[in-house]
Amino acid sequence: MKYFLMLICFSLPCYGALEDEQEIKAIEKAHAAVDSVKKEFKQVLMDAVKTGDLEKAIPSCKIKVPKPKHMKVGRTSHRLRNPKNAPPEWTKSYLEKFSKAKPEDIPKYVITSLGKNQYGYVQPIFVEPICLNCHGRYVAKDVKAAIRKEYPQDMAINFDVGDFRGLIWLEFEN
Ligand code: HEC
Repeated sequence: MKYFLMLICFSLPCYGALEDEQEIKAIEKAHAAVDSVKKEFKQVLMDAVKTGDLEKAIPSCKIKVPKPKHMKVGRTSHRLRNPKNAPPEWTKSYLEKFSKAKPEDIPKYVITSLGKNQYGYVQPIFVEPICLNCHGRYVAKDVKAAIRKEYPQDMAINFDVGDFRGLIWLEFEN
């Protein structure tokens, strides 16, 4: 009996630790993937805005980075510009919650289980000054026209700096 109890005592925390370790590995993997996507995206955007020709820069807000291996990656929003960026089902509750929360109450990321060894990961995106060129309250007339033309259902304007803009999401196996 004594040995049996000891076995339980030892095996329980060990089981818990194993779970944590696997989750930490998943989080690390997700962070690395999102960092590279964000870096690439920022660079493309900065280059585009620097040239001053915002109208031509519009396509550069599309993610054209090489997708991380064995991962699905996307950007989505509660106020979409491109309907093709519609949220995967499992991200909808986060969009709903975060779009109503104060920015300071929004977690830096969330990782969730989507099945055995399958993970979903979301990271919130906030509006920065550079974004206002195409998502703000005072978008230049010709830029606005170009956006309207390509995205007649655009909902992604009138944002302010610091607003919750949407999510980067990942689906992957670990
Ligand atoms: C040069 C104009 C421009 C700038 C600057 C810009 N965007 Fe966009 N944004 C767009 C366009 C155009 C789309 C639609 C892209 C597509 O078709 O997938 C878009 C789409 C998005 C989406 C995908 C969801 C959706 O609504 O379709 C997010 C999220 C987003 N932008 C966030 C940002 C953030 C954050 C910044 C600042 C760091 C930013 N954008 C700066 C033009 C811009």
